[in-house]
Amino acid sequence: MNNEIIKIPNHVAIILDGNGRWATERGLKRNKGHEEGYKTLKRISKYILNRGTKYLSVFAFSTENFNRPQKEVDYLMNLFVEAFKKDSKFFIEENIKVVFSGRKEKLSEKLIKVMRDLEKDTANNTNGVLNICLNYGGRAEIVDAVNKIIDDKNGKISEEEFKKYLYNDLPDIDFLIRTSGEMRVSNFMLWQLSYAELYFPRCYFPDFLEEEYDKALEEYTKRDRRFGGLNNE
Ligand code: IPE
Ligand code: IPE
Ligand code: MG
Repeated sequence: MNNEIIKIPNHVAIILDGNGRWATERGLKRNKGHEEGYKTLKRISKYILNRGTKYLSVFAFSTENFNRPQKEVDYLMNLFVEAFKKDSKFFIEENIKVVFSGRKEKLSEKLIKVMRDLEKDTANNTNGVLNICLNYGGRAEIVDAVNKIIDDKNGKISEEEFKKYLYNDLPDIDFLIRTSGEMRVSNFMLWQLSYAELYFPRCYFPDFLEEEYDKALEEYTKRDRRFGGLNNE
């Protein structure tokens, strides 16, 4: 694809959905879908950031996902611990800075430690930020910000000031992709999504590879973003 005619969003967000269906349709256990989904996540993060996007936010586990069967929750938590430990090398080599968004409550000490280590080990990397949303809820983020503000200050607050109280310092999302054909936001980054372009490819997340992302960018390039005005040219 030719970068001269393709627009590159500054901040891309992905609701990575369909791991379970990807597996069951192949006669496999749902967990196999999560394992495959994680492989895709690594590969596509590298691709997206190498194409010039500066921020990539991914929804890995929602506050509501604790309502799933305990066995699936345990599998996912263990996958995160092992993956973040093993792949710190990968993120350093690829020069990707990893940050996490979400509540620490309900996460094991072991997981919190590997998350902190990964953030620390990649803190000075410069080829883009990968924001992994884990035990994340959009409403929870806003309420957590409000509670910090109550502790911090008196009086009124502007949108710009409010933003500083969110989990991470991130620009607005330009392009939201949700795989698997579901067309909803499921409590993801409510504040940051305000003016995002939305895109819902039918493929399940494990199949969301380079070619699918190229198609997504072609679609993004066609969108006319107005921000309430008449155009932004
Ligand atoms: C996304 O895939 C991964 C997580 C939510 C952790 P799902 O597990 O939601 O897959 P489906 O939607 O059941 O196919
Ligand atoms: C949203 O997917 C959460 C993540 C991708 C982590 P879900 O599969 O949990 O969402 P719903 O329940 O279908 O809305
Ligand atoms: Mg799902």
